Amino acid sequence: MDEQKLLGLAREMLPFAYAPYSGYRVGAALLTTDGKVFKGVNVENVSLGLTICAERVALTAAVAAGHRSFSLLAIAAEGESRPLPCGACRQMLLEFSREMKVLVAGEKGEPHVFELKDLLPHPFTL
Ligand code: THU
Repeated sequence: MDEQKLLGLAREMLPFAYAPYSGYRVGAALLTTDGKVFKGVNVENVSLGLTICAERVALTAAVAAGHRSFSLLAIAAEGESRPLPCGACRQMLLEFSREMKVLVAGEKGEPHVFELKDLLPHPFTL
């Protein structure tokens, strides 16, 4: 599964995003190290604070299916701005894979690839 294909899968999720409050739809596709893909969308709530980001939906679906090792996460958003994952998602993702790459893309422009460990260089640990 290459980066472009995973990004395509993330973009296919955009219609399923539930984002009536921000109007900002996000789709995510998470690749396990054994080649499976788990997808997610942002799910907002009228209380706002209960909103779940697309990447955490994908991550929790993967973990619930027995997967704990990931190599690549693609995040796609509507509009031009790139959806960099929030701090909470960075910490949640790092729990499982320090070596993960994160590919982010708006509708236009070049996708950018980051190393997860560069996005959160000083994570909380016990
Ligand atoms: N959001 C995501 O789903 N992932 C990101 O990487 C950035 C932000 C969502 C949360 C909320 O529903 C909306 O985008 C605006 O913050």
